[in-house]
Amino acid sequence: MPLNKRSSIKGTYYPPGDKSISHRILILAGQAIGKSEIYNLLEGEDVFNTLKAMKLLGVKIKKEGNKYIIFGIPPGALFQPNKKIDFGNSGTGIRLITGLISSNNIKATLVGDRSLSKRPMKRVTEHLVRIGATIKLNKNLFPPISLNGTGNAVPLSFEIIIPSAQIKSAIMLSALNTNGTVKIKEFKTTRNHTENMLKSMGYNIKVKESSKFRFIEMKNNKNLRVINYKVPGDPSSAAFFISAACLKPGSNLVVKNILFNKTRIGFIKTLKKMGGNIKLIGKRKVHNELIADIKIEQKRNLKSITLKSKDVPLQVDEIPILSIAASFAKGLTIFKGLKELTVKESNRLKLIHENLIKIGVKSKIRNYDLYVYGNHYLKKGNAIIKHNEDHRILMSFFIANMICKKNNIIKDKSCVKTSYPTFFQDISKFSN
Ligand code: S3P
Repeated sequence: MPLNKRSSIKGTYYPPGDKSISHRILILAGQAIGKSEIYNLLEGEDVFNTLKAMKLLGVKIKKEGNKYIIFGIPPGALFQPNKKIDFGNSGTGIRLITGLISSNNIKATLVGDRSLSKRPMKRVTEHLVRIGATIKLNKNLFPPISLNGTGNAVPLSFEIIIPSAQIKSAIMLSALNTNGTVKIKEFKTTRNHTENMLKSMGYNIKVKESSKFRFIEMKNNKNLRVINYKVPGDPSSAAFFISAACLKPGSNLVVKNILFNKTRIGFIKTLKKMGGNIKLIGKRKVHNELIADIKIEQKRNLKSITLKSKDVPLQVDEIPILSIAASFAKGLTIFKGLKELTVKESNRLKLIHENLIKIGVKSKIRNYDLYVYGNHYLKKGNAIIKHNEDHRILMSFFIANMICKKNNIIKDKSCVKTSYPTFFQDISKFSN
């Protein structure tokens, strides 16, 4: 059934494999000598680009039935790629693999599509030149990244000022082939899958948390062990369904096998504060990651909240869909400190604001804070959505059809393939 103002969300839903974990398991299993088996890998374009990159760097990967088999090679033994490595739309892919290559004695050129070619890379490379890699960027900022790695990386201490798991993980991957102790200090908590996976693979890594910082210490004196890994469901993909269910009283959705890592479910806390009736029905820990089954039984309309800037990194990819929830929640919702949204696959802050106005929601931006004036009335809709091929903007404003009198017009829906190729099939199964 097409999604519209009469829709509610019902059924039992298994989100597709987590994108962040899919990238990382391809990279880390690719650095563990021997055979690893991966189930439920996200079969999205971003992840496939990382898979192709690892193959170009000498790792053997094949699909057998529903699993991917990876034959890893040791850190420091990456092959010289024989062509440019293309990451398409993926910031995670290009940044993490830049980190991995930087401590190998090889040369590589890393490129991306139009959107990725406008995204800032210096935030990563400024750290990697310190270990001895030589790196050139377009206009000193953007891809293509021309990288001359070092086989003799210097072990250093790093401070990460911009809250970004991609920066942190790039440095961590460079540490795999750095002799000595590498120390990293984070000022805000960001997703910690690289840390969790390294621990599960027997690596020598210590993580300490204080109220103000997170410290990571890595030593490359233990080999990575091969691993059999089932990728849990992606909370960032499930966020569209969970938010949609919270929007409409009468919705009743069970979400199974969702990654429940606290660095990823900030949006669930936010929706609960807004009156979302989300309950945990089961949880388990696998390979240091918490995985859960949850239930959404929505009885009431949502209400507005203020989201503090310190909580943004824990839901950085979910702000677009939360802005739709805020539009249908009674009162003024303020999302504070959204600067990082301006350098995602698109300038998400600007596109959220412009599209909200187009569908009939009052919104404004003040110093990177987003104000959404919500109410429980249907919006006019019938707007041509501007998504600039940004998958999360597109999916969010598709869900917005549920709160509009007339459905919106979305031209070229193909960009969902980057993170969620089956989005439209799935939503048609659960909208009633
Ligand atoms: C990701 C980190 C985040 C997030 C992206 C995935 C990751 O980016 O927006 O979708 O897998 O490390 P930043 O590190 O730039 O915040």
